[in-house]
Amino acid sequence: MKFTYYGHACFMVEINGKKILFDPFIKANELAKDIDIQTIQPDYILISHGHFDHMSDALDIALQSNATIVSNFEIVSWYQSKGVKNAHPMNHGGKWAFDFGTVRFTNAVHSSELPDGRYGGNPGGFVIESTEGNFYYSGDTALTMDMKLIPLVAAKLNFAVFPIGDNFTMGLNDSILAAEFCEVRKVIGVHYDTFGYIKIDHQKAQEAFQSKGKELILLSIGEELNIN
Ligand code: NI
Ligand code: MN
Repeated sequence: MKFTYYGHACFMVEINGKKILFDPFIKANELAKDIDIQTIQPDYILISHGHFDHMSDALDIALQSNATIVSNFEIVSWYQSKGVKNAHPMNHGGKWAFDFGTVRFTNAVHSSELPDGRYGGNPGGFVIESTEGNFYYSGDTALTMDMKLIPLVAAKLNFAVFPIGDNFTMGLNDSILAAEFCEVRKVIGVHYDTFGYIKIDHQKAQEAFQSKGKELILLSIGEELNIN
């Protein structure tokens, strides 16, 4: 499947002809200033939790593209109150077969608040299973024992997308353990370098994964990758 990185924890995958955008935070990200959000026309927008750095461009992109917002019940209801027509609420432990593949909403240990201070439900992550491959995006989270459930309930993962920047989420060593817990070799790192608290040494990070027989992929903003 085609994977495009838009900086921070925002990325798009193309699966079975559908474009699925995750956690849009572009205009307010200085590092992503070369990305024009008007060129982003997804079919779906998946939002892991209610924090600015995961949803700040979701409304504009949903309105310009008519994309379906998929998130927890509270976040989806909030977007519906803002005029979003196409939305699909989920909650933890549930899965749904969309036209591109199956989405499972997983636990995350983090927090979740909407921009106007409203409760954003509990934060989550997503496991995507499709005929073009399977992956897990954990969202912002600590390392959790729940990650060990993923190989028990979902198909073998081709890759995972994990935050690696530490401070607000898992750091390097915990994300390597997360890869072990969910039995995946390839990890695409997100949620690093955007703010002072989460700057990382890229080479050191990649060597740490390598030393455990894992691969850490760090993409440039705007870079596309064919991954399976
Ligand atoms: Ni967050
Ligand atoms: Mn975040």
